[in-house]
Amino acid sequence: MKIQVEENAERLAEAAANRIARYIRRHPNALMCFAAGETPLLMLDKLVEMQARGEVDLASVWYVGLDEWQGIGYETKGSCCQVMRDRFYTPAGIPQERMRIWDGKAQDPARECAEIDQFIKRSGGIGLALLGVGMNGHIGFNEPGAPLDQACMVVELDEVTARVGRKYFSGKTCPMYGMTIGMPSLLASDQLVLMAQGAHKAPIMRKALMEEASPRIPASQLQKNPNLKVFIDQDVWRNL
Ligand code: F6R
Repeated sequence: MKIQVEENAERLAEAAANRIARYIRRHPNALMCFAAGETPLLMLDKLVEMQARGEVDLASVWYVGLDEWQGIGYETKGSCCQVMRDRFYTPAGIPQERMRIWDGKAQDPARECAEIDQFIKRSGGIGLALLGVGMNGHIGFNEPGAPLDQACMVVELDEVTARVGRKYFSGKTCPMYGMTIGMPSLLASDQLVLMAQGAHKAPIMRKALMEEASPRIPASQLQKNPNLKVFIDQDVWRNL
């Protein structure tokens, strides 16, 4: 594991974007998996700007969604697919056929999980996964205590996720279930990039990075991938 500390949100976003762009240049057919949420947003903007300057071709690679709230779709502001489409896939000009994102409204969620899993397998696994960490240590919707041996799964969301998740839905109640790529597929990624910013993330980052890996803190499982690169800001670093 390597940890890189940046002085502010802008620098953090640039550093992570540079890392990801370098990976895409070296692996132009790779499968990328990006978390939604607030943490990566500025970094996604930076990637789009880099493409506009001719520094990376974001449409050369493939994309798979990391997770989705169950029961909602693009029409719901705050859904993962809405955030990713509006903030990244559309401005980056990624063709529809280059991505497989979760259908939160799938009638058969088990089948949706199987299809996402198949997509990952057919692509030869995930090349680079860009992850954020929840206040309870979740990764995607791999909630504390959720099984660690599932490829893709539907998960009942933790009370902390349900409470914190209201920020994405203008304070309204969020769904109680999520669908997510599971830990085995994430841990098998060629590269893992974990981003965190703000002092409020320091306690969970300390548990994730400095304590022994435990099922109660899914983010701590990431230590098992030797190519884990962690990008944090000074506020996380000083409070670790
Ligand atoms: C979202 C996701 C979540 C977030 C995490 C941190 O697709 O996978 O695990 O990465 O909840 O969210 P923010 O970045 O909003 O603090």
